[in-house]
Amino acid sequence: MKQTVTRRNFLTTAGVAALATGLTQGAEEAPKGKPIKIIGIACSPRRGMTTAKAVQAALDAAKAVNPRVAVELIDLGGLNIAGYSPKPPQDDFTAILPKLQDPALGGLIIGSPAYFRGMSSLCKAFIERCAPLREPKMALANKPVGVVAVGAFRNGGQEMTIEQIQAAMLCFGMLVIGGNAPAFQGATVLSTKDDISADELGLDTARKLGIHVGETALRLAAKEA
Ligand SMILES: Cc1cc2nc3c(=O)[nH]c(=O)nc-3n(C[C@H](O)[C@H](O)[C@H](O)COP(=O)(O)O)c2cc1C
Repeated sequence: MKQTVTRRNFLTTAGVAALATGLTQGAEEAPKGKPIKIIGIACSPRRGMTTAKAVQAALDAAKAVNPRVAVELIDLGGLNIAGYSPKPPQDDFTAILPKLQDPALGGLIIGSPAYFRGMSSLCKAFIERCAPLREPKMALANKPVGVVAVGAFRNGGQEMTIEQIQAAMLCFGMLVIGGNAPAFQGATVLSTKDDISADELGLDTARKLGIHVGETALRLAAKEA
C-alpha cells in the first residue's frame, strides 16, 4: 500500500529511527546482568484513568529499550497517602517505600494530572513522603526521572506541572530527563472526555520520554558495571 509521506510523519519516523539507533548502541554497550527496574507512579486520585494510561505508555516504551529493563506501574489512585508528618502515618505509602529503596531501581517515571496548572495534591503528598529516601543516604541520587502530565486542554499547564515535579525530584539528586521534540519538558498528554487514545501527539511524547529514561538507565548501569 502506498504511504503518503508528510513532513510530520517523516519527522516522526526519522526521530524514532534516530532514537532506535541510539538505543541499539546503548544495548550493545550494556553488559548482560541484573534487571534494571523502572517504576512508574501515577498520581491521579482516579485509579486506572488517563494519567495511569499515559505513564503505562511511557513504561512500555522504556521496557522495549532492552530486555534488561523491567517495569512496574504503581497507581496511587484510590490509595490513602497523607503528606509529610514528623511521625509518618501507617498508610498505603508504607508498602511503596521498599520498592523505591530497592537497589535494582534504575529510574522513575512520575505522572500527574494537571490540576489548576500544577501537580495533584496526591503527587505532592507522595513526593513529601519520599523524604526518607534522602537519608541516611540519597537512595535516588543519579537515577533518571521522567515526568508525564495529562490535562483536559492542549495547553492546560502540562509543562508547568512537569516542571514542579522535576524541581522537587532535584532535591533527591535525581537526573531530570526531558522528552524530545515536540515536547522537550517531558510527556504532555491531552485527555478528551477521559480518553487519551486519540492523542497521537501526546502518546508519542510519552513513548519518547520512556525511551529516554530507559536508555539513560541502561547507560548508567553499563557505566557502574
Ligand atoms: C481539580 C481539577 C483541576 C484541573 N485543572 C486542569 C488544568 O489546570 N489544566 C488542564 O488541562 N486540565 C485540568 N483538569 C483536568 C485534568 O487534568 C484531566 O481531566 C486529567 O486527564 C485527569 O487525569 P486522570 O484521568 O488520570 O484522573 C483539572 C481537573 C480537576 C479535577
